[in-house]
Amino acid sequence: MASLGRYTSILKARNKQYSPLRLLLLVVAFCVVYQIWTSFQHDTLADAINFAHPAEPELADYLEFIQLAHPHFKSLRLHNDGLDKMRFVANVTKETQRLDICELSAVDLEATRLAHDVVVGSLSQSHYDVLASAATKPSTRGIVTIGGDTFTGQVLVQLRMLRRFNAELPVEVFLPEPDEAELKGHICHTLFPALNARCVPLPKVPGHKLSRFAYKAFALLHSTFEDILFLDADNFPIVDPNAFFDAEPYTSTGLVMWPDFWESMVSPKYYEIIHKPVDPMTLHAGSESGQIIVSKKRHGRTLLLALYYSIFGEKQYFYLFNQGGHGEGDKDFWVHAAKALDLPYYQVREATVEMGGQVMEWYYVGIAQSHPGDDYARQLKAPDTTTRVTPEAKIALIHHSWTKLSPAFMILQRYNRVWERMWGTQAQTIEKYGYDLEDEVWQEVMYVGCGAVRFLPAKEDREQCEKLTSIWKAVLGNDTLSTTEINQKIESATDIKRKVRLLDI
Ligand SMILES: *[C@@H]1O[C@H](CO)[C@@H](O)[C@H](O)[C@H]1NC(C)=O
Ligand SMILES: *[C@@H]1O[C@H](CO)[C@@H](O)[C@H](O)[C@H]1NC(C)=O
Repeated sequence: MASLGRYTSILKARNKQYSPLRLLLLVVAFCVVYQIWTSFQHDTLADAINFAHPAEPELADYLEFIQLAHPHFKSLRLHNDGLDKMRFVANVTKETQRLDICELSAVDLEATRLAHDVVVGSLSQSHYDVLASAATKPSTRGIVTIGGDTFTGQVLVQLRMLRRFNAELPVEVFLPEPDEAELKGHICHTLFPALNARCVPLPKVPGHKLSRFAYKAFALLHSTFEDILFLDADNFPIVDPNAFFDAEPYTSTGLVMWPDFWESMVSPKYYEIIHKPVDPMTLHAGSESGQIIVSKKRHGRTLLLALYYSIFGEKQYFYLFNQGGHGEGDKDFWVHAAKALDLPYYQVREATVEMGGQVMEWYYVGIAQSHPGDDYARQLKAPDTTTRVTPEAKIALIHHSWTKLSPAFMILQRYNRVWERMWGTQAQTIEKYGYDLEDEVWQEVMYVGCGAVRFLPAKEDREQCEKLTSIWKAVLGNDTLSTTEINQKIESATDIKRKVRLLDI
């Protein structure tokens, strides 16, 4: 019962101070301990003890354990909406105050802190390292993404874009709720394997319904790779990502994150829970977790603690991390899990670049993220930088969250409307990337929407190819190509046998 021992030692430490507030908290803490103690007396007691030294630790056991050490957020409220309060990271200065709009009663804060202490205390035991790397094959690297259902088309575009820059890194595509047809279908069976990607059903936990917000944390733990580049399905690299693993900042930290457009929205209450001083706002921006590089060997515990936050995410830790601001609340979990565990991490300081903006009546948001190695080198030269704008900074990853670069989303957004390029003119695009990146993306969208469409899950649009073709024709028409040239391009892009062309860049 290491966890209860820890409660006791926390109480002993408290006992030495007798201020009225301390005494009140002591009484509260005692009640919490008593409640948890009585819950341990039930059937779960045997499991909890067994879990202390399991021969083969299982994630299901960990999930059961963290259910016991759940946070106490009944009184958690946002007394204001973070959305209109949050500031761009470029606007953060030394004077910027951290937003503090999350209310939590002293009793709940103390109980949540004790529960968090128990989880962190337990994670220091070595069998959790075994647990975190149970699925891992030593010295392997690869990419993890989450697909399935309507994400399948996006993942195919993503993989084909990836293969222009990296031919080898294996990919695990986790499918949260796959059916037989999906797992045995042509995509999982033939098209993904041809791109060195494998469909992996996200394991089910008996008696536990995993929320979609926990998929990412869960997939990372289930991946067989030791060094992982996680990518959201709407994200792809435009440099060879294999190089990230062999260079700083990954080699010294084992965890690399990228910034969001926005300041850190983490509530000061969270820092009380983890017993750490509140970070200055100038430390770095809030995270944008569409891409994560993580070592399971060095950060297994970070992944387990992030899973804890994810399991108790919705309307719980999400509020504490995001205070109602933009984005889903899990984006800052990994940085802060590492912080709570005193493990190193690096977050890129180079400001994210917005791609697109408003085109006609539609708004596009692609988030272009910078090369981590270049950023690290610049950071060494200017260590106090919260955010940095280097015009010549090399873009390494594109997280195109809106519109999603999948046939279905493109049609939804654009069909029957005036179409233009998303990221500026062809000349501007070539100037920025050295080649026509938007055209390359379109070729893969057409490959999926016209070539692979018949293998996509049945609910996909049957007229997908026709609609996409009319949209792309309009785009190409704007580039002043002749009708013959346009038809040739369409024919070649949609050929299901077309190999990915590795760009000579
Ligand atoms: C950032 O600062 C600019 C200029 O001071 C201001 O116009 C803008 O409203 C601020 N925006 C946000 C979201 O912080
Ligand atoms: C589309 O074509 C028009 C006319 O040639 C040009 O002025 C405009 O810049 C083009 N738009 C884009 C986004 O390429």
